[in-house]
Amino acid sequence: MVQISASLLAADYARLGEEVQCAEAAGVDSFHFDLMDGHYAPNIALAPQHLRALRPYTRLPFHAHLELSNPDDVLERFSPLDADAIIVMWDTLTDPRRAFANIHTQGKRAGLSLSPDDPLTAAQQFFPLIDLLLILGVQPGFGGQQIQPKTFETVAQARYSIESMGLDLPIIVDGGVKQENAPSLIRAGANILIIGTALFQAPDMRVFVEGIKDSVEA
Ligand code: DX5
Ligand code: ZN
Repeated sequence: MVQISASLLAADYARLGEEVQCAEAAGVDSFHFDLMDGHYAPNIALAPQHLRALRPYTRLPFHAHLELSNPDDVLERFSPLDADAIIVMWDTLTDPRRAFANIHTQGKRAGLSLSPDDPLTAAQQFFPLIDLLLILGVQPGFGGQQIQPKTFETVAQARYSIESMGLDLPIIVDGGVKQENAPSLIRAGANILIIGTALFQAPDMRVFVEGIKDSVEA
């Protein structure tokens, strides 16, 4: 069963609590928070305070996507983040083992995120140490971009590697996910679709979520 994670980067920042409640009522399975520092990615976005402020609004899991430099510092300074999973970017890690161990010590699921140009082959050795693999379909920084066509192949290759290693590792796709490409992403091996713009700009969020889930099941 596909899961949908709502990316709050695309929500209305003046009514975030309400947006969270509407998305939950529409049937999403978790919330995705992009934490950006204006340095690693060319944008400043959500902060640990947003996770804390929104925690009382829903019981659904929160995923923190650290699109920032120095995730080790952030993991220490803002510990514990109000997140069920913390996802770090491959090219920001000085010591991947230490970062995943740090996240696990905090009792959270550890995710590894690859940008479109990151090599899957180098990251594979760390698959046994993580709980989630996030494949970005766009360059980190902004919602509303088009998914890069190579994403489908990357997802398929990642699924193949995960299976060859005998692991049970969910694949998340983030960036440019829409109704039209959701079935192909699931066929390629994705389990969780992060959706920002297409969800929060849908005329009816519930119809949108049901449409994606039905099209993927079909
Ligand atoms: C991009 C972010 C994504 C973004 C996806 O840096 O990691 O989570 O919010 O948004 P859409 O669905 O608008 O592409
Ligand atoms: Zn993200």
